[in-house]
Amino acid sequence: MRAHLHLLFIMLHFSRGCDVSDVSQTKVISGYSGGSVLLPCSCAQPQSTVHTFSWQFQQTVNTWISVFENQKYRDRLVLFNESSPTNLSLLISDLRKTDEGYYKCLTEQNTPTFVQLTVQGCDLVNTGKTVELTGNSGESVLLPCSCTELLTKPEHIQWMYMTENNYKEIYPKEEVESHKNRVKLLNQNTPGNLSLLISALTIKHQGTYYCSVSPQQIVYFILTVKENPYTHPISSTTHEPPHHFTNLPAAQPAHNTLHYVFILLGIFLSVLLLTLLVFIYWRCRGGRTVKKEITKESNDGEALKKEPDSQDDVMYSTVVYVKTASKESDTQHH
Ligand SMILES: *[C@@H]1O[C@H](CO)[C@@H](O)[C@H](O)[C@H]1NC(C)=O
Ligand SMILES: *[C@@H]1O[C@H](CO)[C@@H](O)[C@H](O)[C@H]1NC(C)=O
Ligand SMILES: *[C@@H]1O[C@H](CO)[C@@H](O)[C@H](O)[C@H]1NC(C)=O
Repeated sequence: MRAHLHLLFIMLHFSRGCDVSDVSQTKVISGYSGGSVLLPCSCAQPQSTVHTFSWQFQQTVNTWISVFENQKYRDRLVLFNESSPTNLSLLISDLRKTDEGYYKCLTEQNTPTFVQLTVQGCDLVNTGKTVELTGNSGESVLLPCSCTELLTKPEHIQWMYMTENNYKEIYPKEEVESHKNRVKLLNQNTPGNLSLLISALTIKHQGTYYCSVSPQQIVYFILTVKENPYTHPISSTTHEPPHHFTNLPAAQPAHNTLHYVFILLGIFLSVLLLTLLVFIYWRCRGGRTVKKEITKESNDGEALKKEPDSQDDVMYSTVVYVKTASKESDTQHH
């Protein structure tokens, strides 16, 4: 009965329009996030003419929205009716998880065909786990992170590094100075491979990292950086290392040496000045009179037998001799 009515319907409208094929069953199509899918739809009769047609997405149970007029699908849809007017298939690219659901293709005949679309997102390998890694200073290290299905291109990807008890982004935004220009993803061929390569490792890159594609999909890493015993002699010899960071330890001692030179120069100048002052003092008071006093005092049996053997002794003795000398001159006047 239904089939007869349908046939009648087709015959009535044959000259006017297109009845889409496969109206009785819902096709199931699946794609990967970031990828594209073709939702098939065509006229049952290749000779029919298509006046209008549309693709609609089921937003709620009773609400269908036209994909052509929805912002969500903007710049992601391709039709093929231009080259083959009865081919009403729709290509959706850059798939998102939110594209998942029911679609229907219908012409003015209002007998739609249904397509159920599933979009496989990125499920990270080892999600929720912590991976421990060791790298050598001066070399590079790969932090492995990937979607279980390597063809999935995650909608979001973020690499974070713990610094000062906070996680900061190192990819795609480079918020940490020590990681700038040293991190890159190696996923040209496989969109689901989110592994991060850190090059020219230093001790500063040691710590906790995580790779995430959504709040539920996270893999943690603990990276240990070993000092490479062979990179240190290189930095102190004339052989120029290729990475600028190896210059840093070499620059540090040079800076320190300059400090020591200044300190030593300061001490040397102070000693020189002191010696000069003592010498001038000694000359002003006249070395000869003092010498005379020495013999006088010695004759008088005073305890000044010690020979001055250092600069300090000279100064001390000079002061004492001068005092005694002036005393004697005083007594002579009386
Ligand atoms: C193809 O379909 C679109 C959407 O219905 C329509 O706007 C356009 O005119 C069609 N192109 C041709 C060549 O029929
Ligand atoms: C419609 O066009 C697409 C793209 O060229 C093609 O892959 C598909 O097979 C066509 N469908 C039909 C029914 O011809
Ligand atoms: C991801 O890419 C890196 C670098 O090309 C490679 O070493 C690694 O094996 C890849 N991971 C997977 C899961 O394919």
